Amino acid sequence: MSNLEQTLSIIKPDAVERNLENEIKEMFKNKGFSILKEKKIQIEKSEAEKFYKVHETKPFYSDLCAYLSSGPIVVMVLEKDSAVFENRELMGATNPKDAKEGTIRKKFGISIDKNSVHGSDSIENATIEINFFFKD
Ligand code: CMP
Repeated sequence: MSNLEQTLSIIKPDAVERNLENEIKEMFKNKGFSILKEKKIQIEKSEAEKFYKVHETKPFYSDLCAYLSSGPIVVMVLEKDSAVFENRELMGATNPKDAKEGTIRKKFGISIDKNSVHGSDSIENATIEINFFFKD
């Protein structure tokens, strides 16, 4: 039975800055993800604050929003069976130090802040996050 889902992925400033965009996209494609939509943008800190609103009470919120808006990012809609879970598996643990071999964050992540990629953490948030960046 198919369980086709869509999820939002962001290639964060640290990865775009190091020209890792194509290598990361290849990792998604090799795992069977289709990239349905994508755009390279730079957002304002106020937009990052809206995007990461769920983290607003966390001590790292301000730095996180400053970071996401610090340079170009690539936002993508990925599609695959169980895309939300599968994307989180491929990204690896939030802290690259804890990420398993073969994951994007193990391979490219620098720190818990500069962890190269973001991915939606639930089907509900995937819908919200896709609509945030791709309104049409
Ligand atoms: P991301 O998946 O984009 O979601 C929120 C981000 O906050 C997370 O990746 C990390 O890059 C960042 N972050 C910074 N400090 C922490 C922390 N202590 N726990 C979780 N996430 C953190």
